[in-house]
Amino acid sequence: MTLRLGDIAPDFTQESTEGPISFHEWAGKQWVVLFSHPADFTPVCTTELGFTAKLKDQFAKRNAKAIAVSVDPLDSHRKWVGDIEETQDVRLNFPILADPDRKVATLYDMIHPNSLANLTVRTVFIIDPDKKIRTTLTYPASTGRNFHEILRVIDSLQLTDHHKVATPANWEQGGDVVIVPSLTDEAEIKQRFPKGYRALRPYLRLTPQPDK
Ligand code: BEZ
Repeated sequence: MTLRLGDIAPDFTQESTEGPISFHEWAGKQWVVLFSHPADFTPVCTTELGFTAKLKDQFAKRNAKAIAVSVDPLDSHRKWVGDIEETQDVRLNFPILADPDRKVATLYDMIHPNSLANLTVRTVFIIDPDKKIRTTLTYPASTGRNFHEILRVIDSLQLTDHHKVATPANWEQGGDVVIVPSLTDEAEIKQRFPKGYRALRPYLRLTPQPDK
């Protein structure tokens, strides 16, 4: 099944390094980053999982949490966690789903056989507290993901959910944002953006980030 932005993230029950997980129940009312990796005991994945663990406070600040998945079995995950902790100097603080029957991988279309046979590629699903898929990213096995970028996307989603703005290229917290083109009422613009705006074109209006 192709999953698209705005779809409800499929629910599942699967074993993990933190015990059995019913996904929707586990997600609760938080943002979730569900990310797949090709295999245990591989170098890039080891760095990705270690780095994600180091970002726990950054995820918590955004009411978000991470969960990883690979098609390897639980006993393999458990052994690998020791390596991750030792080599990346961190305690693993989020679950890794064991998916030897490929239940999760199939539901989320994480196996791209023309890229990597029988293993999950590096997909990322950012899921909101209503269980809606808000972002998908797909990377090849050879390229480790940028987890600062994943946090940046969550920041953008949370900002644009609450203000009539969108975030421009390379936006980061505190940077100027754009007023959505559908907002044309000058009185409303003044009320929503008291710091004013610069119109480079009628459709390209920059304003300071409204929640700063
Ligand atoms: C890795 O995580 O290092 C990796 C996994 C599969 C293929 C290539 C690299």
